[in-house]
Amino acid sequence: MNEQLTSLPYDKIAQEVKSSRRTDRHFEVYKDLFGFTDNDLKNKTILDIGAGDSGFAIEAAKIAKRVIRLDSDYSNRSPEYKSDAITAIAQELPFRDDTFDETLASVSLYWIKTGLNEALSEMIRVTKPEGKIRIYPAFLRVGQMAQYSQSTRLAYVGKHKSLSPTLVITKNPSYKPSDWKNEVSNILACVDL
Ligand SMILES: C[S@@+](CC[C@H](N)C(=O)[O-])C[C@H]1O[C@@H](n2cnc3c(N)ncnc32)[C@H](O)[C@@H]1O
Repeated sequence: MNEQLTSLPYDKIAQEVKSSRRTDRHFEVYKDLFGFTDNDLKNKTILDIGAGDSGFAIEAAKIAKRVIRLDSDYSNRSPEYKSDAITAIAQELPFRDDTFDETLASVSLYWIKTGLNEALSEMIRVTKPEGKIRIYPAFLRVGQMAQYSQSTRLAYVGKHKSLSPTLVITKNPSYKPSDWKNEVSNILACVDL
């Protein structure tokens, strides 16, 4: 997963992003959606994809080692809290391989129409071996199995009111980039993100 993506239609993606709704899921809601305790966040390096106006990063930064918020729309709509807020698209993440312990997406991949496969591949690429990629919501397609592999599972983790599960992927260190390519295809064949 070393190669960067160069052929995506940025204008189209930017237009799609503008049509996504703004919300602010705060710290406790994120913890519920992703199944974190405060202890889980201690000393972790965390990336929140499509963070928007969420207050999660501000609170989590008090516990974690570092929390970076990324959103494609920050340049048009400055975030209140500017530290560690990066303007970029999920489909082409400006980070090195194996950078984060936790890579999260709360109701942001949901809005992607172009380049979902690339966004998921990028999230896996920038996560450290044994790190976790957590994506909410994830809807299992009718007739599919919830267990994809040893590394990938759907989890109903939250006390939150929604009945939707969260997809949790552990970056299996023994997988090669080609294995992850297959895994991403398998996941997207089974799950609506
Ligand atoms: C519904 S808001 C969710 C905000 C926050 N994560 C929460 O749970 O409250 C969706 C956010 O995803 C961002 N977004 C949509 N598509 C994106 C993309 N391709 N790359 C990065 N951010 C994207 C939007 O700009 C918006 O801020």
